Amino acid sequence: MRRWWKWAVYIGGMSVFAGSASFTVYCAWKVYMYHQPEEKPAIADRKKAYHFVLVPEELDNDYWRLVEKGAKAAAKEMGVRLEYIGPRQANIEEHVKILEKAAASKVDGIMTQGLTEQQFTPIINRIVEKNIPVITIDTDAPTSRRTAYIGTDNYYAGFIAGRALVEDTGGNANVAIITGSFEASHQQLRVKGFQDAVKHEKGIHIIAIEESDITRVQAAEKAYKILKEHPEVNAFYGTSALDAIGIAKVIEQFHRGRETYVIGFDTLPETIHYLEKGTIEATVVQEPYEMGYRAVKMMVDIIEGNHVPSINNTETRVIRKQDLPLRPARNYEVKHD
Ligand code: BGC
Repeated sequence: MRRWWKWAVYIGGMSVFAGSASFTVYCAWKVYMYHQPEEKPAIADRKKAYHFVLVPEELDNDYWRLVEKGAKAAAKEMGVRLEYIGPRQANIEEHVKILEKAAASKVDGIMTQGLTEQQFTPIINRIVEKNIPVITIDTDAPTSRRTAYIGTDNYYAGFIAGRALVEDTGGNANVAIITGSFEASHQQLRVKGFQDAVKHEKGIHIIAIEESDITRVQAAEKAYKILKEHPEVNAFYGTSALDAIGIAKVIEQFHRGRETYVIGFDTLPETIHYLEKGTIEATVVQEPYEMGYRAVKMMVDIIEGNHVPSINNTETRVIRKQDLPLRPARNYEVKHD
């Protein structure tokens, strides 16, 4: 009995010793590893592991499908994973929620717009605090902690639209503006640039300004309403991709035979169609494919510690019928793949 008890004490003592010894070794190993620089995987492997998210204003908008197309082409080239997620219909609250979710799922980089300073600057800053870099695309959030912006200089784009209208109408027009949104900063800048460009023109009068919620249906409804309420309007300026298309539909249906000047934004297939027919006289070119493509490449550069300029403006210019066909075709061909 005594002998058995002795063995029990001996075995117990040994296990306590072994336990504490392995714990000490484990702790020492942890401390050692903590001070070792993390071994970096080869660049090719790291790029494969990158996971970027692109959040557009509206998922199925043809303009955003072009941004997506460019981003996907770059992602394929660089071997990164790209997710394209966003609201089905433009909606700022939903847009912000999607950004929150993307940040919570710990992706490597997020690309989105900075539609309003009030709602987008705080969420962008929260994402950056989680060490996820943000690139603003199409619409900047200049006071946020985003690393870079890529897209049109929206004020300048509005300004050249205004100058084009002055040139094409000989400085005489009663203008109505249809804008995608009153609150989105790029739309405000496009309106402001336009107003500044025409403000010294005695013959140019801005009669009305309405909002389309970036839909062609509402752009058409608002154009119709304006023509009813202000029959003196003989020129329209549409500041988002589908506005001039909606305006053109109304003019063709209800305003035939009357000279109405239309200038819009972007070069989607329907816009080009109306430009060819002469219903739309001019449009401001943007480079959505380029924005998506370069944003992905820039994101890889940012993560790998390469310098990226904070403002990267893509090309913008006004085109008219005589400038067609556009080069290169990829800019206005939307293929849903
Ligand atoms: C703008 C986008 C917008 C789109 C709507 C474009 O002109 O740059 O921000 O989402 O129009 O159709």
